[in-house]
Amino acid sequence: MRKTTKQEIVLATRNKNKVVEIRAMIGDLVKIQTIADFVKIDIPEFGRSLLENSFAKAAFAFKLCGKPTLADDSGLFVSSLDGEPGIYSSRYGRNDEERITRLLKNMTGAKNRKAAFRVVFVYYYAPGKYEVFEGECVGRIAGAPRGSEGFGYDPVFIPRGHRTTFAELGPATKNRISHRSNALRKFREYLTRKTS
Ligand code: IMP
Repeated sequence: MRKTTKQEIVLATRNKNKVVEIRAMIGDLVKIQTIADFVKIDIPEFGRSLLENSFAKAAFAFKLCGKPTLADDSGLFVSSLDGEPGIYSSRYGRNDEERITRLLKNMTGAKNRKAAFRVVFVYYYAPGKYEVFEGECVGRIAGAPRGSEGFGYDPVFIPRGHRTTFAELGPATKNRISHRSNALRKFREYLTRKTS
């Protein structure tokens, strides 16, 4: 029987919650290391779009590690706030609680609660060679935080077709329908095609 070795990739993120989610979704397919296994620095985000940031992180990590890298940049885009916090989602406050408080305050009185999580993954696998995978999860913003699972804006995001927040739904349901899982499904198909 032919023994297949798993493709090794380095995740260009230091966000432990994202690493846990990504491992749960593609850990069976690829051997995952993280940038933290190589260096102890934060990769800065200067881009004007999810793609620019994601590309910069993936290319930077590839130069550092010399291995295929997978980077993601994600954010919460709220209709009534003209897409805020968007690419600034992680910098909207000093911690999750502050970020959620600011979001709900800025939405005071807003009837339109529509929002979407978006993510762009860049898989950088050789010098100058990369692929892009995008994912989205549409939903609405709750009036107040609910639930204790997940991270970030999960306590206020209710995905379409549900009545409860990501933080109430828990990881099994979230990982089936989230923006990250939509994008990683495409990545999984790509890797399977490439290695078959
Ligand atoms: P970045 O991709 O590291 O720039 O961070 C994006 C920010 O968007 C995170 O720090 C969270 O605040 C938020 N975010 C991205 N994905 C999720 C998610 O799945 N749940 C909750 N918040 C998220």
